[in-house]
Amino acid sequence: MGGQPLYLEPRLESRLRSLLDAPALLHTLTDALGSPLNMLVPDQLADNLQQFRSVYGTHHLSGQVYFAHKANRSSALLRRLAATDAGVDVASLGELQHALGAGLTPDRIIATGPKNPEFLWLAARTSVTVSLDTRGELEQLATLVRKHALPRARILLRLSGFEASGVRVLSRRSRFGTAVRELDPLLEAVERHADVVDPVGVAYHLDTTSLTEKATALEGCLRVLEECRSRGLRPRGVDIGGGFGVNYLADGGQWDRYTTELTEAVLGTRPPLTYGGHGYGLRNEAGTLRGTLGLYPAHRPVAGARYLDELLSHPAASLGGRPLAALLLEHLYDLHTEPGRALLDQCGLTLTKVLEVRDPETGGPLLVRLAAKADDVALEEHGVLMDPVVVPRDPADTQADTQADAGADTAAGAGAGPDPGTGPVAVHLFGSRCLESDLITRRTVFLPRRPEPGDLMAFANTAGYCMDFHATRAQHQPSARKVAAWQEGDTWRWCLDDQYWPTTPVGGAQ
Ligand SMILES: Cc1ncc(COP(=O)(O)O)c(C=O)c1O
Repeated sequence: MGGQPLYLEPRLESRLRSLLDAPALLHTLTDALGSPLNMLVPDQLADNLQQFRSVYGTHHLSGQVYFAHKANRSSALLRRLAATDAGVDVASLGELQHALGAGLTPDRIIATGPKNPEFLWLAARTSVTVSLDTRGELEQLATLVRKHALPRARILLRLSGFEASGVRVLSRRSRFGTAVRELDPLLEAVERHADVVDPVGVAYHLDTTSLTEKATALEGCLRVLEECRSRGLRPRGVDIGGGFGVNYLADGGQWDRYTTELTEAVLGTRPPLTYGGHGYGLRNEAGTLRGTLGLYPAHRPVAGARYLDELLSHPAASLGGRPLAALLLEHLYDLHTEPGRALLDQCGLTLTKVLEVRDPETGGPLLVRLAAKADDVALEEHGVLMDPVVVPRDPADTQADTQADAGADTAAGAGAGPDPGTGPVAVHLFGSRCLESDLITRRTVFLPRRPEPGDLMAFANTAGYCMDFHATRAQHQPSARKVAAWQEGDTWRWCLDDQYWPTTPVGGAQ
């Protein structure tokens, strides 16, 4: 194989670890329901919500946590959410209908994203709060409310183009939201339509991992809220969108080692680490490394609720340097959040069956073909590099698959090779589409042992965006079915995703 195996082991919390410790169940389910198969654990969503709530509690803040529905189409997840006190952020007519049907009342729903007239009408008809993208959308909503005699619509003004200290634009460009420099005409329009719209707050969502950019945006929103109040408007809160992130990997050392060696592979000072020498954004220009690594920071200790905590503790430079949370509290503003990925952390996995394992004629990594398409396991699409866990078909091999076994993490990471029979192997994972580029991941994946046809490869933590956001039915191949699973004592129970209701588990969801 050459060199030490470069593992990128997934971070597995108790529910996913316990599922992976139940190979008979996983094989029975994929035998019955096909590969790929998505498994969801809705109770984890409720636990993740509690973590966000506890950060609100620490900072004495009120406001709603709206789960960003777009991250997963699952009914089970939405129905489990309905059994909590959280809300949902819907970004299409279908998502709004789904949320209403799952039992989320309109006061717990917020409509975001680009909207067509039907989506706007149903939101306004049911008194769902609408996060307005542009002045044009405001005009459209006002016209709709008047024409159809709808109730006065609760609106948030989504903003973008925030500036730090009024000079350098620090927050990244977004095609969504009204630029802060266009605030005056926006507020004039709000005032003109005051009979049909009620501006309850301002909002932003920035597609960035940068805490300082988000702090700049939140600070900008606080200034806008003051401007609104000075004009006699009475907004009550700020919605800071999503983007709190997930820590996908168990071991930061593995991540550092992998990225260092990837750099060396791109420079040609070690053998390639990807199929076809792909550089994930890096390139070698006459011995000099150029480009930027286009990968998700898969080892991210400050993610999810912790990220929110750090953001709220961040000092507001232009507002006396006090923590952002203190400023929100002082003005009694509600804080709303729209986490998608972060609320789905550890909420599910994707099972795929190994169809073929081939030794390439020219040597190098084994060619492994899975019963799944690249779009069924969209980790690569999101730049998330993380090893699958092999779930052997033959129970006798189960001991050899130690990546899900905490005790073996160190041995595997050190490249000791848990199975003396075969030891670690390097593989390339191909999908089942008749397309050269149908690679589950372009990265050379290291596994603790050679997989066999019939084994399962379980991709952990795929619930956020990696299950169904990109899935297609190309070539008449199925997209994955979904099952929802929950624990009763030591036993896992399951049902098809659309059969799950909070009454399904014995005793019902709390
Ligand atoms: C308006 C809005 N809110 C929330 C989210 C959720 O973001 P994340 O899943 O990164 O938390 C998105 C994602 O695109 C979004 O566009």
